Formats: sequence, C-alpha cells, structure tokens
Amino acid sequence: MIIAVDGPAASGKGTIARALAAHFGLPHMDTGLLYRAVALNLWRWGGDPASEFEALRACDNISLDPHDEELRSEPVSMIASSISAYPGVRSALLQRQREFAEQEGGAVLDGRDIGTVIAPEAEVKLFVTASPEVRAERRTKELAARGMTAHFEDVLADIRARDERDSGREAAPLRRAEDAMLLDTSAMDAEAATAAAILLAEERLRAG
Ligand code: DC
Repeated sequence: MIIAVDGPAASGKGTIARALAAHFGLPHMDTGLLYRAVALNLWRWGGDPASEFEALRACDNISLDPHDEELRSEPVSMIASSISAYPGVRSALLQRQREFAEQEGGAVLDGRDIGTVIAPEAEVKLFVTASPEVRAERRTKELAARGMTAHFEDVLADIRARDERDSGREAAPLRRAEDAMLLDTSAMDAEAATAAAILLAEERLRAG
C-alpha cells in the first residue's frame, strides 16, 4: 500500500506522514530532504542556484544526513525551492523515490508531487494545507525552538515566495491530485491533524 502526502511548506504534512507510517507500520520518506540535500551540497560548494548545470552537478553523490541542522535552515530552504524547478534535478531524484514507493509491503512518502508524479497509483492520497499565516507561525516557532532567530513577517514572506515558486513552476508543480483528499490543518494542532489524517486514510481503505 502506498500513501502519498502532498502539500505546501509547514502545512503539517511531515508530521502527518510520520504518524501514518507509524500507524500502518510502513517505512516513510520525506522527499523534501532529497531536494534539501542537493541544495546543501550546492551551497557548501559555493555553486550558483541560478545555474541548472551547477544544480545538476550537485545531484551527484548526495550524502543525506537527516539530522544535519543546516538542511532545514532558511537559505537551504530557498535554494531547495529554486533548484527543484529544474526538470533535470527532478529526474535525477525520481528513481530513488519511485523505488522507495514501490518496495514490497508499501510506503508513505511526503512531498509536493507524490500523488501526481512519483506514485499516481497510490491507494491513499492526502493533500494537506493550512493558511500562509498559520504556516508562518508554526515555522517561526519551530525555528525558535531550534535556537534560530526568525521574525514572523520574514518567515511569512519566505513562505509566500516558496508557495509561488512551488506552484508556479512548469515541472511537476505543487497541485492537488484529482483523487487526493483535502485536509486543511489551519485550525488543528498536530494531534488533531494526525487523528484526522488516520481517519481519512482508514475510510479510503475501507471504501476500497
Ligand atoms: O517539503 P520541504 O519544504 O522540505 O521541501 C523543500 C523544497 O523541495 C520545496 O520548496 C519544494 C521541493 N520539493 C519538491 O519540489 N518536490 C517534492 N516532492 C518535495 C520537495
């Protein structure tokens, strides 16, 4: 069984995907981390995110340490959002995600194009959203908890810019798959959002 969870930054999709994976006993992949790993590679090596050629070079030998704090920093988030618009970068990362999705027993993947491109055959598809203000508030708190200084207005502007780039790009833009269930988490805390997601997934599986 494949569960696809898509949505914009700080919508709660990561928390929801991890909870679904734990609930159904499935492995989980945060596909945003792949784009972030490419971005971090490029950043460390001083490459230019405006160059598709350099971004493609940064896809070679990506080492992914999910605990690396810099993966989630704002500069890396912005670079990840720009380089993810390059079709070459997307195809360099495609195989890894497809193989993970198609492994025996199933998997949960979260990202932007899981239900539309990576695993259109997924049995359960969720599209998780929340208002930009709520998402900026969450991200500001998250960054503060990690000891990074962040101002709400700056984070909100970054979120809006990222939304526009992620949804406006030509290659696999962020959009809800026709058969994805919509979950708006604006008025929900993490507990309520995960409970709602599990309920929706179970209902979908029962309906067949
Ligand atoms: O989910 P995230 O914020 O960690 O993702 C970082 C960036 O990677 C995001 O701006 C868009 C891109 N991304 C993508 O294009 N496709 C995915 N499946 C996952 C992430």
